[in-house]
Amino acid sequence: MKIIVLNGSPKGDISVTMQYINYIQKKFKQHELKIINISQRINQIEKDKEAFESIISDVKSGDGVIWAFPLYVFTVHSNYQRFIELIFERDVEDAFQGKYTSVLATSIHFFDHTAINYINSICNDLNMNYVDYFSLHMYDLEKEDIRKNLLKFVQNYFDAIENEVITLKNYSPVKYSTISYIPEFTHDKIDVLNKKIVIVADSLENINLKNMIDKFRSSFSQSIELVNLQDINTKGSCVGCLKCGYNYECVYTNKDDFINFYNSKLKTADIIVFAGTIKYRHLSSIWKRFFDRGFFNTHTPSLSGKQIGFIISGPLNQMPNSRQILESYTQWQGSNLVGFITDEYDTSIEIDKQLHAFAYNLIKLSTVNYSKPTTFLGVAGMKIFRDEIWGKIRFPFIADHKAYKALNVYDFPQKNYKSRIINSILILMSKFPPIRKEIYSNKMKSSMIEPLKKIVEDETV
Ligand SMILES: Cc1cc2nc3c(=O)[nH]c(=O)nc-3n(C[C@H](O)[C@H](O)[C@H](O)COP(=O)(O)O)c2cc1C
Repeated sequence: MKIIVLNGSPKGDISVTMQYINYIQKKFKQHELKIINISQRINQIEKDKEAFESIISDVKSGDGVIWAFPLYVFTVHSNYQRFIELIFERDVEDAFQGKYTSVLATSIHFFDHTAINYINSICNDLNMNYVDYFSLHMYDLEKEDIRKNLLKFVQNYFDAIENEVITLKNYSPVKYSTISYIPEFTHDKIDVLNKKIVIVADSLENINLKNMIDKFRSSFSQSIELVNLQDINTKGSCVGCLKCGYNYECVYTNKDDFINFYNSKLKTADIIVFAGTIKYRHLSSIWKRFFDRGFFNTHTPSLSGKQIGFIISGPLNQMPNSRQILESYTQWQGSNLVGFITDEYDTSIEIDKQLHAFAYNLIKLSTVNYSKPTTFLGVAGMKIFRDEIWGKIRFPFIADHKAYKALNVYDFPQKNYKSRIINSILILMSKFPPIRKEIYSNKMKSSMIEPLKKIVEDETV
């Protein structure tokens, strides 16, 4: 069989992900795995019609497609996403229809599930037969048990093609028809006080988005800055070189205007509103390029303490995966997510009201310097980074290591001597059946609330 491997790494052949594909090829010599470097060659693929058509013709004639990609900032690389946009924009979905497909992802397991969900939903939109995914930590190839499982996964994929098995569909088509949003209702203007607000948008071509942004800006007594990402001289997306690991210096430093924009406009803002249009299951590849290029800050939060909100045109409510990516991004950044405003309402007045409440909340929460605690998304994500930066990837991410020390991210090993002593005593005591019975049957609930009750009862706290 001939399988087309769509390589999502901007590093092309010198890619961690491709080592897994090379390993699979070594073990399944009877099949041909044709690797096509998508992310690395996106400029050529987009500009040169023949280059694009040759990929599509490979997909058409192939027996299957493997989406093989590294994780880049919560999902796939922006160039990979651009390729997906091109499939739909150029109406070549037919080439993918009915093809058996699987996902092979490499990462450090930080939001690998959101990238996989995204590609799974794209595969379902393309009416492909989605078999399964295999998500690897980047160095898993060194582990024998994982290698064995990888081969089982691949065998299962080839079997699915040969036996034309029925595959499960995880995502239903998106149904979206929006109203034309025309602002109708005028509220009293809100004073921005001394807060610096910046709106960043990927495009103003979508009239609903443009009108929502205009309405939001006009909610305030003062003028609000709007930056269109397309107006910023950006030479390209992240190339994955890791030069930033040493001291946050990017391969593009002094070569384009992105870093200056990020540092001068965003890091100095109190409130940032991200505005964009949903394009095929996520914000656009232009937005994704913003997130990828933001990686010059590596794993160090760079927008801490800010209020962040999203104005989105498109069916976000049908895309909990995208919402989770954006929410997780704000939590990892240490900023406070104020909310999402979309155009998924029946009337313009409802959107007017939402935008006004949103503007009011942004100022109010910024004024009191509010930040809600992180959920599992932020807590768990940070623990993955903590362990990785402490361990295997401290080099090359030296700047992160310094920052994590300063930010007290290294909250381990836990030297909580008081808990350790109390635990040892309780463990010892629970070895005696009558005491154990007393603790587990009568004391458990009341002792759990004891430290909290003390605070509730303390008049000075
Ligand atoms: C800019 C950048 C962003 C990354 N973002 C993530 C991420 O969000 N989650 C994750 O688990 N790993 C992330 N990684 C790690 C890569 O996914 C991992 O190293 C992968 O194996 C690289 O594969 P490649 O060499 O094929 O590009 C990122 C790496 C880079 C350079």
